[in-house]
Amino acid sequence: MVRAALALAALASTAMAHKEWDPSALLSIDKLGEVEQVFLNFLEDPTQMRVAWVTDAESASDVQFGTSPTSLTQSATGNSSVYHYGFFTSAWQHFATMEGLSTASTYYYRVGDASTGSWSEVSSFQSHPGVGPDIPYVFGVIGDLGQTKYSNDTVHHVLANAGVQSAILAGDLSYADGDQPRWDSWRRMVQPLTSTMSMLAAPGNHEIESFFGLNFVPYRARFRFPCAEQCTSPTFPLYYAVNVGPVRLIVMNSFGNYSEGSDQLAWARKQFQSVDLSLTPWVVLMEHTPMYSSNIDHYDSGKPLLALIEDDIKPLGKRMVVLAGHVHAYERSHPVYNNTVDETGPVYVTIGDGGNREGLYDAWTQPQPAWSAVRKAEYGHGVLRANSTALAWEWHTITTDEPVVSDSFVRTL
Ligand SMILES: [Fe+2]
Ligand SMILES: [Fe+2]
Repeated sequence: MVRAALALAALASTAMAHKEWDPSALLSIDKLGEVEQVFLNFLEDPTQMRVAWVTDAESASDVQFGTSPTSLTQSATGNSSVYHYGFFTSAWQHFATMEGLSTASTYYYRVGDASTGSWSEVSSFQSHPGVGPDIPYVFGVIGDLGQTKYSNDTVHHVLANAGVQSAILAGDLSYADGDQPRWDSWRRMVQPLTSTMSMLAAPGNHEIESFFGLNFVPYRARFRFPCAEQCTSPTFPLYYAVNVGPVRLIVMNSFGNYSEGSDQLAWARKQFQSVDLSLTPWVVLMEHTPMYSSNIDHYDSGKPLLALIEDDIKPLGKRMVVLAGHVHAYERSHPVYNNTVDETGPVYVTIGDGGNREGLYDAWTQPQPAWSAVRKAEYGHGVLRANSTALAWEWHTITTDEPVVSDSFVRTL
């Protein structure tokens, strides 16, 4: 009886209008003004890990790290800056890169200012796993996260999955939408995850935040995903590729220029042609706009990109899963090429159901296309496991408070 009442209460809360999550709940007053919003991300080099954090006063950008929590014997110093967005001046955005890391190892670290002794708490992370077919790996996959109760649930469900080694996010992060302090609250919300594992993201339309003709100004200022030497340019590209275990992760910017003749399209085609499948037998292409979607909302958003790259990715089809968001629902295709079920094509997954304030999109085209295997408007996240012979996907829904595996597929070599 009690259990039934609890289940009913859970259902009732699901049906409630979206309430923004209160990020101040997890912060003590003492911590404000010190280090917050700690965010780790992998780089191309498996011996490195980037760490970002925020302080509201100017300070040094120091990180100390090591393989024992009581012996942080290695250190690095980075840099910090503020950015301006209209009348808004941000807090100090710090970045530093830990180098010389052993792969697949637990590291302990703290960030702050060595000269003043103002440090974050010591936290730990798992370093990059290394690269190769015999290094199994598990990603937690999130899309269109936002910062509602459901968003926070998504973060904690990914974190609670002991198998997940790092997170990837297919665009639409904070839904700050020009209200810059909402980037800070989002980063506080994700900190339990992002201070303990890498998160790599693709930019979505909510990251554009156009200002005086420049796009992605806050996103470029607050995140430094892999971008090689081009990171020094104020308009550095937001597309990149990294190897993680047996996976080549290729991230495109769906809201940057990818037209015929563009730098991004040339880069992407080169990426598709040059994957070393003996090193990374699986390819994950992540961008924001779903190229196969049968949801009525944003129906055509990914079609222009599909028209340009579908033939380029076809040779990788059996090795590839394509991850997108934008549509706030879940949809998974059968292997597909040219709108036809084709075992040699990639599988396309829309995972835009992370929990943002815009709610779920539950209107679908009818009838369901033959290529569409599963489509549902429920909150959730994905778990993607890769090893030398298999790529396995699970969709975990969170509508009933406990994550439930609601869809899965496996591709094998
Ligand atoms: Fe979007
Ligand atoms: Fe979205």
